[in-house]
Amino acid sequence: MQTPDRNTLLRELKNYLLLLKEAGYSEIPCETELFTKTVPLESTISSPVKIMATSKKATQLVQVREELGDCTRCKLSQGRKNIVFGSGNPQADLVFVGEGPGADEDEQGLPFVGRAGKKLTEIIEKGMNLDREKDTYICNIVKCRPPGNRDPEKEEIIACNPFLVEQLKAIKPKVVVALGKPAASTLLGRNVPITKERGTWHEYEGFKLMLTLHPAYLLRAYTIENRKAVHDDMKKVLKELGK
Ligand code: URA
Repeated sequence: MQTPDRNTLLRELKNYLLLLKEAGYSEIPCETELFTKTVPLESTISSPVKIMATSKKATQLVQVREELGDCTRCKLSQGRKNIVFGSGNPQADLVFVGEGPGADEDEQGLPFVGRAGKKLTEIIEKGMNLDREKDTYICNIVKCRPPGNRDPEKEEIIACNPFLVEQLKAIKPKVVVALGKPAASTLLGRNVPITKERGTWHEYEGFKLMLTLHPAYLLRAYTIENRKAVHDDMKKVLKELGK
């Protein structure tokens, strides 16, 4: 077999790094404990990438991303700039599931990076004392932005749902948190009155599921009552995680 030249190898490496980035990685997964500590590596793509010893979960997640491809399974593909697959640690015990990307997320190809995202980060880091990148994985019910931030439609949810399920099966988190009514209603397959049912445990595809308010709703209705509600829900999640 002919050995590929340096430029071909670099191009292949760059494509692989881009694929990982699209799958939500900020670190390079490898199968075995080749490295005793994480080694910072300046990548050919915009953000610094670290080498990380990890498991089959990372590989499986990349396979789900590959399977999704340049998706045109529903009409949301027509208006999107980027597919927002998910981000965080594939080894995380905790997965947050939101509704769908907004304008900032569509622009950057990453979930929860706008105002609601900042609130979610604050809930995770200040409220729960966890690290968003290391301790959680974040994704959405639909992976492309609904125009004008409308709720995702039934066919769009149905087209995208197998990929959410495969993501969760790859990660195998201890707890999944549904953020807001559309996510909760989609995962439970019924109309969920979120203000009544938040803070309650459910089951989704064999995973423990907690329902809470969406951070965008919290920003709109920033009352002591709502803030306490989310705080109480996250306390239950931490207890379930043994933290
Ligand atoms: N709201 C969501 O539900 N998901 C995002 O990714 C951003 C905002």
